[in-house]
Amino acid sequence: MFSRHRQAFLDHMQEGDLALFPGAELVTRNHDVEFPFRQHSDFWYLTGLREPAGMLMLAKGLDEVPQETLFLQPRDELAEIWNGKRLGAEGAMEQLGFEAAAPIEEFTKRLAEVLPRAKRLWVSLGSNAAFDRTVLAAMTELRGKIRLGQEPPQILVDPRPELAQMRLYKSAEELELMRRAASISSEAHTLAMAQCRPGMNECELEALLHYTFRRHGCDDSGWAYPSIVAAGANACILHYTNNDQPMHDGDLVLIDAGGEYRSYAADITRTFPVNGKFTAPQRDVYEVVLAAQKASLELSRPGCTHAQVHEASVRTLADGLTQLKVLEGSVDEIIEKQTYRRWYMHNTGHWLGLDVHDAGRYKEGGKSVELEPGMVMTIEPGLYFQPHDETIPAELRGIGVRIEDDVHITGGDPEILTAATPKEVAEVEEACAAMRAEPPTLETEMVS
Ligand code: GLY
Ligand code: MN
Ligand code: MN
Repeated sequence: MFSRHRQAFLDHMQEGDLALFPGAELVTRNHDVEFPFRQHSDFWYLTGLREPAGMLMLAKGLDEVPQETLFLQPRDELAEIWNGKRLGAEGAMEQLGFEAAAPIEEFTKRLAEVLPRAKRLWVSLGSNAAFDRTVLAAMTELRGKIRLGQEPPQILVDPRPELAQMRLYKSAEELELMRRAASISSEAHTLAMAQCRPGMNECELEALLHYTFRRHGCDDSGWAYPSIVAAGANACILHYTNNDQPMHDGDLVLIDAGGEYRSYAADITRTFPVNGKFTAPQRDVYEVVLAAQKASLELSRPGCTHAQVHEASVRTLADGLTQLKVLEGSVDEIIEKQTYRRWYMHNTGHWLGLDVHDAGRYKEGGKSVELEPGMVMTIEPGLYFQPHDETIPAELRGIGVRIEDDVHITGGDPEILTAATPKEVAEVEEACAAMRAEPPTLETEMVS
């Protein structure tokens, strides 16, 4: 898969091109503790190397320079005793299929040798200061060698847009990994519904989600993005991640969480009653959001644009807001004046892949992109009624609902990767009831 991605990028390069891609580095968390390592998504896409201090060099038609060279940490017995195994140059050639590989310490010297031969240089500047300095220093040094007949490439090309377009269309292998991330995440959400009880703390459900991600082989800490477990009015905070409040009888809990499998993300939101049964107002709001999600799913097919998918949710939510007695007037007027935005302030979806908000354009030539087979996106409408909103019926205040699925665009009906996650009201209540007969298995006393 990774070598095919490299070949596809090489196909976009011209004779005389050099391309450089730096991997992610370890980042200090505090004192001598580092954040868990996560590879840079573009670098992972092209290499499959899960180690810090990597550098990929692609060359096309540069005499005897190999087409692809991976620079990486060398094997080191002592360092490996302390910090774990390294692949090393031989491992990179054997296991990742690289034509050539070398210790990362050789990169600067090799760059100085190769750079004078390149006519164009593909390089992403502005996101890795140390890498920027290394490349610019090599260019500056070459400029000083003009009397020796050497000069740096005249043209710099940003590889990010090209890579983003490649990443937008998922291959069969990528889709398999995404299906796995989705099914693990579906199981985690279903388990959270079954184990949730009034009086439990949000963090207990968070731990259950992350436990489920990890035990099924999700990467590192398991999640693709910090999980949101938001009970009651916390659901009205879009990026709530404190996850440290008790969950009360009669409240809803909104969970937005997805696992990361071989660096591919799932992104699921479900909203369910803490005590297992929706109240009438909660159910009314839920049904409106569900209808909006279904309207958008219906348009998740080739020929429709990303904007149309959003508009379908907006139209259904606008109509629902009149049924809920939040707004008056015609749907067209609500949409034109955007009065719905007070309760639906985000977009209906985004591309999904190696990044939860994945690479890829949303507009081309000012027009929303048309959906095509191989694209994967989320559909995630919601309604958020703030607890102190005096403009809405009292029974709606403090209710926040979002429903989010991951969708693979095919030639026909969309494939909903997360379809196993309970979604209809009856399915959700059934999933919540699954373990009601038994005592909860999570009995930890929470310290307030
Ligand atoms: N979890 C991030 C999002 O839904 O976009
Ligand atoms: Mn999302
Ligand atoms: Mn989400």
